[in-house]
Amino acid sequence: MKILVVNSTYRPKGTTTELARSFMQGAESSGAEVDMIMLQEKTINYCTNCLKCYSFTEDGIAPCILKDDMDEIISRIVESEGVLFASPVHNGFVTGLMTVFLERLVWRVCRSSSPVINCMGLESRVNDKVRALGSIVSAGGMPERLRKFCDGGTPWLKDNATLMLHGHWIGDIYAGAELEHLPQSDQDWKRLYFLRRLSKDQQKRAHKLGVSMVKAIKSGGLKPVTMEKLINPALRWSIELYCKVFPNYRLAGGRPAEKQEKPGNK
Ligand SMILES: Cc1cc2nc3c(=O)[nH]c(=O)nc-3n(C[C@H](O)[C@H](O)[C@H](O)COP(=O)(O)O)c2cc1C
Repeated sequence: MKILVVNSTYRPKGTTTELARSFMQGAESSGAEVDMIMLQEKTINYCTNCLKCYSFTEDGIAPCILKDDMDEIISRIVESEGVLFASPVHNGFVTGLMTVFLERLVWRVCRSSSPVINCMGLESRVNDKVRALGSIVSAGGMPERLRKFCDGGTPWLKDNATLMLHGHWIGDIYAGAELEHLPQSDQDWKRLYFLRRLSKDQQKRAHKLGVSMVKAIKSGGLKPVTMEKLINPALRWSIELYCKVFPNYRLAGGRPAEKQEKPGNK
């Protein structure tokens, strides 16, 4: 069983990596073969929106015009039974590197599908197995009880990664700021990130997430997230009915009538 950690930190020896290592130890102690990709060490160019991947209609991984390390990363993800996304919290989100990475990933491992409530659907191209997924984010200034004000990254990863990788979300950790001591001076507040340390509890939780991921994979009970399953059937029925009455796409040629200026009005 293979588990891959995709780490988007800019500091290879920082808190994100430390937590990722605890996760890896947990997973390894339960029998998985675990590896980590440091995105920073890879060449990952920006998506150019050329739509080569998006326009590919055949099965398999969609091609890309950019020649860099994405092919290798994608094949390692595809062969894995589990993937953990690890990132520092930057500006209340994940790092730019993680978003650049997911931009490059999406239309290579997904394609648009038949509509789901009158909108474009999306389906994973890598649905040969259900992958166990999870995330760890590490914050510098915001304590855990205030997570919701600072962690836009985890729900984003959860929503995107499960759909893209035919995945089941096992769990996530927000490692908030545990400080060496309470800030006591202006100077402390100005240098808050430098008071940050990892607690034993955070490391324990990361370890436990590794154990749980392996256990979940072994259980064979993983269920993928698909767009259809995301929407409650009753809600879907009512929205579809609403869309029939008020189509949300204009038909070709059906431009709203332009206001005619009546002659002599001026
Ligand atoms: C550009 C930047 C933005 C950051 N934004 C936040 C933030 O919004 N909330 C927070 O709690 N910490 C923030 N931090 C602090 C990092 O989350 C913190 O230092 C983290 O533990 C770093 O992980 P690392 O050790 O893997 O680099 C920010 C740090 C940087 C460099």
